[in-house]
Amino acid sequence: MDNYQTTGPQPLIRASGVCHSFASCKEVLTNINLTFSAGELVAVMGPSGSGKSTLLNILSGIITPTAGQVELAGHPISGASDSTRSALRLSTCGFVFQDNQLIPELTALENAALPLLLRGTKRRPAMDSAATVFQQLGLAGHGHKFPGQLSGGQMQRVAIARALAPQPAVIFADEPTGALDQATGQETMQLLTSVARMNNSTLIVVTHDPTVAGWLNRLVEIRDGMVHSDKPLDPAAGGMGEK
Ligand SMILES: Nc1ncnc2c1ncn2[C@@H]1O[C@H](COP(=O)(O)OP(=O)(O)OP(=O)(O)O)[C@@H](O)[C@H]1O
Ligand SMILES: [Mg+2]
Repeated sequence: MDNYQTTGPQPLIRASGVCHSFASCKEVLTNINLTFSAGELVAVMGPSGSGKSTLLNILSGIITPTAGQVELAGHPISGASDSTRSALRLSTCGFVFQDNQLIPELTALENAALPLLLRGTKRRPAMDSAATVFQQLGLAGHGHKFPGQLSGGQMQRVAIARALAPQPAVIFADEPTGALDQATGQETMQLLTSVARMNNSTLIVVTHDPTVAGWLNRLVEIRDGMVHSDKPLDPAAGGMGEK
């Protein structure tokens, strides 16, 4: 196995010996050891069912692994309470879920502003920050609509706006371009990577699409719940060569 571990200062995320099984099922993740530094742009690839979404959920503290340790921004989260993990996630992470998980009763703009409101930002600046990201994502004019009144691709862009608006230290994105056409997907990756660079955020993107991975500078490949390879990509040289 290629094994590439970042050498920067204190890593922002560290997973050591992480294993996970869902109740009574066989192990889904086995002995995952990964570190991610501030500002890294990472693609996570692998076959369907190999454990990519489970890994993101564990790295972000949404679920607790059955074994091993995860540290997020210097805090151990694997043994922490639900409320501690939620608070840390809220202050540190933005998450674009595979199934977008918008709240149907809130408008698109309110959905995007929600993490800021939950962090205690006042309504006006929270809505203004969300509106700025809406503009960048081509969503201006859709802010007042409810998720049920948006197309699948528009809903996904609202979910991306929700992750970006608080300028988090880490952005987790689980197949963020899955519902987007090729051109919109590439524009979205350009925005995600430029925002991440501007804020020195770590960006971790699960994708099946080599052209999406081509925007990133490190590739972690998961197979059968294990890290099969971990290597640098060179976006300047075309990343995976298919952009
Ligand atoms: N809540 C759950 N309960 C039981 N098994 C689960 C649960 N979530 C995921 N799994 C199982 O864990 C394995 C890994 O799932 P995961 O969603 O992490 O895969 P993935 O790599 O993200 O796949 P895809 O590319 O299709 O999104 C699969 O076998 C899946 O069926
Ligand atoms: Mg998945």
